[in-house]
Amino acid sequence: MTFDNPILVIGATGKIGSRVASRMAALDHAHRAVSRSTNPAFNWEDPATWADAMRGMRSAFVTYVPDLAAPGAPEVVEHLAAVARAEGLRKIVLLSGRGERGAELSEDRLSRSGLDYAVVRASWFNQNFDEGMLLPSILSGTLALAAGDKLEPFVDADDIADVAVAALLDDRHNGHTYDVTGPRLMTFADAASEIAAAAGRAVNYVPLSIEDFHAALLAEMGRAEADLLTSICAEVFDGRNEWVGDGVQKALGREPRDFADYVRNAIAKGAWRQAA
Ligand SMILES: NC(=O)c1ccc[n+]([C@@H]2O[C@H](COP(=O)([O-])OP(=O)(O)OC[C@H]3O[C@@H](n4cnc5c(N)ncnc54)[C@H](OP(=O)(O)O)[C@@H]3O)[C@@H](O)[C@H]2O)c1
Repeated sequence: MTFDNPILVIGATGKIGSRVASRMAALDHAHRAVSRSTNPAFNWEDPATWADAMRGMRSAFVTYVPDLAAPGAPEVVEHLAAVARAEGLRKIVLLSGRGERGAELSEDRLSRSGLDYAVVRASWFNQNFDEGMLLPSILSGTLALAAGDKLEPFVDADDIADVAVAALLDDRHNGHTYDVTGPRLMTFADAASEIAAAAGRAVNYVPLSIEDFHAALLAEMGRAEADLLTSICAEVFDGRNEWVGDGVQKALGREPRDFADYVRNAIAKGAWRQAA
């Protein structure tokens, strides 16, 4: 077990945090995986929990929930960094989202915190389709989103975790912001049809207006969550993210995984077998 740089993984039961924590375990690297359900617990909504979770750690991987685009996120990140400094942490690696103004402000607060840092700025995750919020849509056969025919270079959660782990363990990544994306620009219709063909089920993409998308979300969730998701889609699907990043190549010296590999691996692990 390596003890000189114990690493705190915040959001450790999530899509990315779980992968970062499992890589730390495989490397036999000292780490503490936290979320609201762990002991010690870490709750973004209860800053009194932060210091206990950080005690004895030297670096932290941070996934902020619900999203760095949420109102107040930059202030929360600044607060977290101040607590981290007080607890003796030296470095934070922040998971961020591409094209979000709130995320950029949060990254900026971290860069001015006095801590070493790296930013892993990700496009939409492949794993949204089988581990995340889009799974019910795939199972129902209708993927309805306010993404129009915009192009997105979906990125694999395993590539994001690989970049995060490199940044946590190697100080040569300090001060870097990595735009991590997949290798290919795709529409949501492309993604739906690739999953449909490989999984042998019908999946149709239905582009919604921003108003219809918001109304559909309101039927499923509270207003704050619906407002946030709608504003994120309005922001990131205006064309600004229609480019392929080189963060995986720069951080790891290799190409990112392709969406087709993701679909094949997800099916091998049993994804999308359930009935609607
Ligand atoms: N999905 C995308 O396409 C995408 C793209 C770019 C960036 N991002 C960013 O990725 C981050 C989300 O990462 P993810 O998808 O890996 O997360 P996730 O799968 O949604 O999991 C969320 C994690 O956060 C924990 N959590 C939830 N509420 C919490 C709270 N109040 N306090 C502390 N922990 C809490 C959860 O565990 P418990 O329930 O046990 O607390 C879980 O470990 C967000 O910052 C998002 O902006 C996402």
